[in-house]
Amino acid sequence: VPFEETSLPLFFGWFLLPGVQDKVRCTSMDFLKTLDTLEAFKKHLPDFTVEAEKEVDLEQYFQANGALHCTTKFCDYGKAEGAKEYADKPAVKELYGSAFELSLSALFVTPRTVGARVSLSEDQLITLWPADAEKEAVPVVPAAATLPAGSRAHITLGCAEGVEPQQTGFDLLEILALQQEGQEGELVEEMELGSLAYYGKGRWLLSLREPVSAQACFSSLYG
Ligand code: A2P
Repeated sequence: VPFEETSLPLFFGWFLLPGVQDKVRCTSMDFLKTLDTLEAFKKHLPDFTVEAEKEVDLEQYFQANGALHCTTKFCDYGKAEGAKEYADKPAVKELYGSAFELSLSALFVTPRTVGARVSLSEDQLITLWPADAEKEAVPVVPAAATLPAGSRAHITLGCAEGVEPQQTGFDLLEILALQQEGQEGELVEEMELGSLAYYGKGRWLLSLREPVSAQACFSSLYG
């Protein structure tokens, strides 16, 4: 019996190459280091954390673990809906192990997660992005139903204590839904990396002036 018929991975995704992981982690650290010193961030701190703290060290607040990646399909070893269908797609088999260039277009921070938005190319969307990725988020983020395919694509850079990584995609979808409704966010600051906007409830989005191009390998994790 072929291995692929006996066991499906925890998830499929694009895994950033080691050197690129360091670069993205550094960019993220720089952003967090700057963000928590901004007057605007301090002003909105009560929205960010319910604890009566005067300051937050964001680098401590978020815990990072594991290799940086952009999940395409969470399979849960075959228990997740559509896992086998995804693994059986010809494109998934053909492209397994090949190199891709991901475009990171924004960084975002919420009281729960910090992540990078991945802007998928048409090709990446068509070949490897599951058609129902956004719909699966609807029970948590209803507005996800009306967002374009690929909206959920992200890299989890860190989670607050007790928060699961899949929350990062929900947090991103929430921000994109607000944008779609016409909320621009409150432009807070032009930073070196790009423009920083505030979307209320402790949600921050930094649109990168220059998207970060990240080399990644399409593969899977058995965990
Ligand atoms: P994300 O893609 O947002 O980082 P875990 O360690 O919790 O088992 O998760 C392994 C990976 O799969 C993480 O990258 C995580 O989130 C993603 N993930 C976990 N659960 C789901 C889910 N139900 N739907 C989509 N992605 C998930």
